[in-house]
Amino acid sequence: MDGADAASVDADFAEAVLAGLGAERKYLLSKHLYDAEGSALFDRITELEDYYPTRTEAAILRASAARLADHLPPGAALVEPGAGSGEKTRILLDALPGLGAYAPVDISGEHLEAAAARLRADYPDLPVHAVVADFASRFALPEAVAGMPAVVFFPGSTIGNFTKPAARDLLAAFRAIPGVAGLVIGVDLPKDPARLVRAYDDGEGVTAAFNLNLLARINRELAGDFDLEAFAHEARWNADESRIEMHLRSLRRQRVRVLGRTFDFADGETIHTENSHKFPVDGFRAIAASAGWAPVDLWLDPERLFSVHVFAPH
Ligand code: TRP
Repeated sequence: MDGADAASVDADFAEAVLAGLGAERKYLLSKHLYDAEGSALFDRITELEDYYPTRTEAAILRASAARLADHLPPGAALVEPGAGSGEKTRILLDALPGLGAYAPVDISGEHLEAAAARLRADYPDLPVHAVVADFASRFALPEAVAGMPAVVFFPGSTIGNFTKPAARDLLAAFRAIPGVAGLVIGVDLPKDPARLVRAYDDGEGVTAAFNLNLLARINRELAGDFDLEAFAHEARWNADESRIEMHLRSLRRQRVRVLGRTFDFADGETIHTENSHKFPVDGFRAIAASAGWAPVDLWLDPERLFSVHVFAPH
């Protein structure tokens, strides 16, 4: 079967790809990196030696999550937008035995259901309500959860993948969840650019494969003919914006077809695929404050590589 069959084309993906490749400065949306293949590659990134954020954040949570109990109403639901494989979730679930429910929210239904099933097996007394949704648009919590006070858990410095205005909007959307009582959010800190670049251009090439998978996905689903050998992964530090940028660089002049449309690339032209902003503690608190959140706790690793903020509504 043709992957670009009218009935099987994801309209949101198709529209975004045609708009991004047709733009003056070409871009693709990072949420589209996470199909089944991309989600599996991302799980491998989180285990890489060069990718310090995951293990650093996990260590911070292990050291400090028990302190969260002091700020939590009893019977609260833990809501996790963009829930991944559930490893960090377990650290919180172990430290917070009084939770009333766990509600992971993710765009990748398959990935989400698999993780939810593993959690149900290991926490038989905890109701797990998986919500398949794009957490960046409005999502409704299941009725069983909607009556509970909610604590939003947003680890992985995913907030850094949004532009500043979009990050503020997302924090405001979390703040608008009925009954919301807290926010626990992981935020990567600015540091030596060489260390940052290595985290996004690892020696094993897994991040390169993750980024290039977006072109493979376009080939699979949108009748694309990207030559994956003719594009290279690139991670660069943008000091002015305090962010790592991910690009796919065209290694020659070339023409690519997607859904019957043609797109021309100059030699060296790039497709911008992702940003990962790095926020100092005060800078992040200022953004959170503008979205209605007041700081109540801050957890750091001894090397000050990564931060986990705890906020309450103000
Ligand atoms: N939230 C993660 C981060 O910004 C996402 C991420 C890690 C990522 N590595 C990546 C996104 C590589 C794209 C490519 O660190």
